Amino acid sequence: MPYRVLFVCLGNICRSPMAEAVFRERVRAAGLADAIEADSAGTGDWHIGKPPHEGTRRLLDGKSISYEGMCARQLQPGDGDAFDLIVAMDANNERDIRAVVGNDAKAEVIRLLSIVPDSVLQDVPDPYYTGDFEETYALVSAGCDLLLERIRPRLAG
Ligand code: 4NP
Repeated sequence: MPYRVLFVCLGNICRSPMAEAVFRERVRAAGLADAIEADSAGTGDWHIGKPPHEGTRRLLDGKSISYEGMCARQLQPGDGDAFDLIVAMDANNERDIRAVVGNDAKAEVIRLLSIVPDSVLQDVPDPYYTGDFEETYALVSAGCDLLLERIRPRLAG
């Protein structure tokens, strides 16, 4: 069974699809594509079925990172048992995730920047409001690198 990671933000069009695409790219580069799966979801329902935001697409295109086939979906209660790790982009997401999946879920719930030592920011800024997709990418990128190292020892075999 692959280790399953779910990235969650509010709309599932800016931050969490960026994190999903970047993390998948890092997993692939590490030769772990068969061992780790990534997905993303939003706590809100406004953008269900839509592709990532144009700003996220442009940023990923610029870095030759694929987002093929990705479209927004809403976090479901069952995600708590379908995933090993749920990674929130900010504190509001973390609170909302815990409310949806409950306390008995299999998945561990963390905030992405909680694993980045000495991070000045606790929350990944939302480029839907800031317009700064590069700032968000820098934080998501650092977080994804550390996330992969955190998961490595937990992989079966
Ligand atoms: P995201 O950004 O949570 O990073 O996908 C947002 C996208 C859409 C909205 C809010 C945040 N919205 O209110 O529609």
